[in-house]
Amino acid sequence: MIVFDELRGTISLHTRRTTYQMKADQRGVLLHLYYGPRVEAEDLSYLLRYADRGFSPNPSGSGADRGYSLDTLPQEWSTCGVGDYRLASAEVEQPDGSVLLDLRYASHSIRPGKYALEGLPAFFGDEGWETLSVVLRDPSSGMEAELLYGVCEEEDLITRAVRVTNRGEAPVVLCRVMSLCLDFGRSDLDLLTFDGGHVRERNLSRAPLRPGVQSVGSVRGTSSHQHNPFVVLCERDAGEDHGLCFGAALLYSGSFLAAVERSQFEDARLVMGIHPHHFRWALGPGEHFTAPEAALICSPDGLTPMTHRFHRAMRERLIRDPYAGRRRPVLINNWEATEFDFDAERLVDIAREGAALGMELFVLDDGWFGKRDTDLSGLGDWDVNERKLPGGLEALAPRIEALGLGFGLWIEPEMVSADSDLYRAHPDWALGAPGRPQTTGRSQLVLDFSRQEVRDHVYAAMRRVLDSARITYLKWDMNRSLSDVWSAALPAARQGEVFHRYVLGVYDLLERLRRDYPDLLIEGCSGGGGRFDAGMLYYTPQIWCSDNTDAVDRLRIQCGTAFCYPVSTIGAHVSAVPNGQTGRDTPMETRGVVAMCGTFGYEMDLGRCSREEKETVREQVETYKRRAALIAGGDYYRLTDPFQDPPFTAWAHVSSDKREALVSLVTGSARAAQPFPVLRLRGLDPALRYRVDGGEVHSGAALMYAGLSFPLVRGDYQAKQLHLEAV
Ligand code: GLA
Repeated sequence: MIVFDELRGTISLHTRRTTYQMKADQRGVLLHLYYGPRVEAEDLSYLLRYADRGFSPNPSGSGADRGYSLDTLPQEWSTCGVGDYRLASAEVEQPDGSVLLDLRYASHSIRPGKYALEGLPAFFGDEGWETLSVVLRDPSSGMEAELLYGVCEEEDLITRAVRVTNRGEAPVVLCRVMSLCLDFGRSDLDLLTFDGGHVRERNLSRAPLRPGVQSVGSVRGTSSHQHNPFVVLCERDAGEDHGLCFGAALLYSGSFLAAVERSQFEDARLVMGIHPHHFRWALGPGEHFTAPEAALICSPDGLTPMTHRFHRAMRERLIRDPYAGRRRPVLINNWEATEFDFDAERLVDIAREGAALGMELFVLDDGWFGKRDTDLSGLGDWDVNERKLPGGLEALAPRIEALGLGFGLWIEPEMVSADSDLYRAHPDWALGAPGRPQTTGRSQLVLDFSRQEVRDHVYAAMRRVLDSARITYLKWDMNRSLSDVWSAALPAARQGEVFHRYVLGVYDLLERLRRDYPDLLIEGCSGGGGRFDAGMLYYTPQIWCSDNTDAVDRLRIQCGTAFCYPVSTIGAHVSAVPNGQTGRDTPMETRGVVAMCGTFGYEMDLGRCSREEKETVREQVETYKRRAALIAGGDYYRLTDPFQDPPFTAWAHVSSDKREALVSLVTGSARAAQPFPVLRLRGLDPALRYRVDGGEVHSGAALMYAGLSFPLVRGDYQAKQLHLEAV
């Protein structure tokens, strides 16, 4: 509910459990007053303090009153160059060369429903939403900023976006536009970020705010493996079910910045948005620019409820039909089994083994097109390699279907190999500045997706492929970071638009694909989880989480990913051992239990499995199908912290009515004289009684407060999965 109190001038955004409040003061500065647990019928501006602080300047007209400074006041969207030295929300190069921007309240409006953003991902749904729009203007220039707030009461979700319009008479250049600026009147907070690299994505790191600016971000043109556009600020002692937490996710798949500043007066400001590196957006008179959406969830009671609210909000209001609530097929992918070395017979063999074990979808990965026997060539030439696949997909897909499997395909639309017909025909379609040798990544170049004709060409090629056979699933890959960012289609002064135009181009093509093939299940991928963000989830309801399929490393990668993103979106497969990334051996049972905390599938040559292993696989597939609704739609609970190298890692999926739970546990490397393992469950109903795996019955209270005990296990990385049902 959005409430404007005319008498006091406050605008309050109330969700079920939280309140967010702002107010334009007598100078028209839009002050941020509060974000936290729900507070009603209050004007929280009584918290504001004014004092003459040295070196904190005063706006014009202050006269002898030195108590008012933008440098000390909490603001909704900070200004630039006019007295606030903390993180700026915007930087606009004015026609006179200055980058000064002062913003004052002009008007606001409140309406039912949720705003939409053209060409950008956004949470959706008319029901349960209200929108606040606040227009700010710079009195000295023609710049206007419309701050948009979406309030979803039920999910405790507040979204924000910004539309900047040039109402002046001359062009300006936007050099920085943050989607979110959030001032906290305190700095005794921890910052949680999700970091790593290729094959080590989204490992949690947590540290207290220190003085100055600390940030994570990406200048790679993608949201990246290295950092994720999701951060948490929380009270220093906040844990899974206590302490105030604020989660912020940016719905954006390109270069981003998430920065927090602990200022001289012990407050903190969080900004999040498109990374300002090489961002220069020309805005002519009357033109506007829309910054991507950011999503905020405040949890007064710890990290777990924050996670649950993000999961629910994304499942129900970000991931679109028809896959929002639909069980995803158990798949068998040929990549780790064959890499580029296959023919139709080999593929059909793998598919046949999969079908016999209950799998539902065969995915043909890289190598089916052009001249593609290694990763040195072929990208961009999306014609079937008839040497490997005589008769093309037209011949292969029906053979797969005849086995009772759907047919899925890998593609990497944004890329081109220098050794390809496409590149030979259109060298200027790849990003790269004239007179400068291009940098390659995985021996490939990046297509200039900022250009319509490039996208049109790629799309036409994709359509030919998609129309050639019944293809039910597409894995959209993207295997390098952007470099040499320069577009042959734009003048020098507008090259700073290419990074963002590239992302808009990717969204455009994904949207066209969704429109023309509404039933196609698209899995996002960027060398595993290099573009695992809320923006991508709007187009692709699942994303391959990591090229690292090692079950032990995956415990951390998946736990970090699931801090924000729903389990139903996390691509997770069982692969062969010793693992290709780590060389580690883990039991088949363990690999299955870990991959079940995701979309589930296999990525190995099943023909090489022993009879016992196949039996295990068959049971796993059955278990997954039986438990899929609970896993994908239930509440996910972290039961231990895998980032602390615990003796075992455990998690649970609990149904929303709390009558059913699936508890999974994986031990670490073997330790002698180990303590007796006891696992205290979470999320159950203390008053209900649960039958544990068809055996003993205990109360929810006993299972949560006293715990479940496990027998001592021998050997490394053993797994156990228990199903609990209320009796
Ligand atoms: C990326 C993907 C893998 C696989 C290969 C194929 O690394 O993440 O899953 O598709 O490309 O080249």
